[in-house]
Amino acid sequence: MSSSVDMKTYIDEAEAALLHTYNRYQIVFDKGEGVHLYDINGKEYLDFCGGIAVFALGYSNSAYKEALKSQVDKIIHTSNYFYNVPAVEAAKALKKASGMDRVFFTNSGAEAVEGALKAARKYAYLKDGTTDHEIIALEHSFHGRTFGALSVTGNPKYREAFEPMIGGVKFGKMNDLESIKALVNDKTCAIIMETVQGEGGIYPAEPAFLEGVRALCDANDILLILDEIQCGMGRTGTMFAWQKYGVKPDIMTSAKGLTCGVPGGAFLMTEKVAQNSLKAGDHGTTYGGNPLAAIATATVLSEYERLDVLGNVRVVGAYLYDKLEELASRLGPSVIAGHRGVGLMQGLEFTSPVGPIIERCMSAGLVLINAGSNIIRFVPPLVITKSDVDAMLSILEKCI
Ligand SMILES: Cc1ncc(COP(=O)(O)O)c(C=O)c1O
Repeated sequence: MSSSVDMKTYIDEAEAALLHTYNRYQIVFDKGEGVHLYDINGKEYLDFCGGIAVFALGYSNSAYKEALKSQVDKIIHTSNYFYNVPAVEAAKALKKASGMDRVFFTNSGAEAVEGALKAARKYAYLKDGTTDHEIIALEHSFHGRTFGALSVTGNPKYREAFEPMIGGVKFGKMNDLESIKALVNDKTCAIIMETVQGEGGIYPAEPAFLEGVRALCDANDILLILDEIQCGMGRTGTMFAWQKYGVKPDIMTSAKGLTCGVPGGAFLMTEKVAQNSLKAGDHGTTYGGNPLAAIATATVLSEYERLDVLGNVRVVGAYLYDKLEELASRLGPSVIAGHRGVGLMQGLEFTSPVGPIIERCMSAGLVLINAGSNIIRFVPPLVITKSDVDAMLSILEKCI
């Protein structure tokens, strides 16, 4: 049997055994090295997807790999009945990186959003003793697939078949402060938004909008929840995207690059919210913050410092931005409808669906993903170099 037959065999077996909830590319990956992936036939792919904005450190970070291996040899799970050293290290490092006061570790991004919403509802409940508090979210947002996260996801297509949602959620528009103000009433307990919308098409919040939302929250004692699951962990050039705006959330969520591949996430809050929301018995998880996930977070954060990952994102992100601008002007407005984003989170909007371009890039050895039907999303590992950007662009341009 040739190895290409093997690939098809695995795909057929996967389709026979797994629930079909993903439309997958017809590739079975086997390993990663640096910023490259290799399929089971040994074909090399330059990775500008990073496991959907996850593998910030690329695939060959030896400190990360060794930390995980030695933790496997020690212990990988203890339960939250007990303390473990990696979770303490991870929480301390995350507090330092974010300036937030308290951390709750989860198993995924969606679960971090769930916890953030529960904390906001509890905060409001403790304030006025009632239970019908409302949350404002944004159109085109994405916060995950569990019920709470889905309820605040601003794309009706994801929600429709699963109604009713958690209730009390209203949707305003990104960068339209008046649309948010119009939704605020004395039942509003939180405004949740991505600092830079990811799945919805790479839309950064404008500074005036985020400042306005913060002021609105302050004036009405509403909690601002910033979802930094995709745009956080250095992707836009600061550790968390909101740090560039000088606007601090009351609660924030993190995942993806936080653990760089080991399932994990977190929600963090200020001391004020912590003192007035979730208490012992209100929230929990079996796995969240277990030693394996926690050592991943602690090591990721120390590697960010050692490698100056943020510095690299700023330099290479600016280079990518300029190169995509050049490409956009070469191709012209009949092909390119827009270019948005910052750092290593950028989107190139085409005038027609990008599926065929992405398929051709995959065949040519470049992994790219979309964000909406017409937008190619660039969310590579944060350790890519300018020459990786050049290599990506030369394949992409041939495939357009
Ligand atoms: C902004 C944002 N929030 C939440 C999620 C959900 O995270 P997870 O897939 O880990 O549940 C995602 C995933 O893409 C995301 O981009």
